Amino acid sequence: MAENVHELKVISDERGSLVSIEGGMTVPFAIKRVYYLFKLNDLARGFHAHKELKQFMICLSGSCRVVLNDGRSAPQNIILNSPDRGVFIDHMMWHEMHDFSSDCLLMVLASDHYNESDYIRKYGEFELLTKAVN
Ligand code: TYD
Repeated sequence: MAENVHELKVISDERGSLVSIEGGMTVPFAIKRVYYLFKLNDLARGFHAHKELKQFMICLSGSCRVVLNDGRSAPQNIILNSPDRGVFIDHMMWHEMHDFSSDCLLMVLASDHYNESDYIRKYGEFELLTKAVN
């Protein structure tokens, strides 16, 4: 599942560095929502999958560990510690975020507006649905 990790093009000059993310190009969906997590602590987050939503996660500052689990192969651990790297989280991908540094700023680009009914928050339900499509 290493294909979920994307190196982002950095445009650097003597003034610093810039990363541009374009919906439908850098990320494989039109971006409808942006949210970010900060003031994080030792409590892990996520622990859900989405029925339809696609997301792209970038750690703009600090670091964290993202676990991706498609319900079929072994879960993948990804360390995010650089703003030039992002993780694509497709729909039907169970994801968790752990090990936040105190300065962690985690930005998420999403393909749709917030919709609680798109969440699968019970791992057992996720397992049943992933088995059903195999
Ligand atoms: P949740 O998605 O459970 O957070 P995480 O995946 O980081 O553990 O969301 C936490 C709360 O915030 C929950 O009550 C839903 C709400 N929320 C919104 O209102 N809008 C949003 O765009 C998001 C992502 C969450």
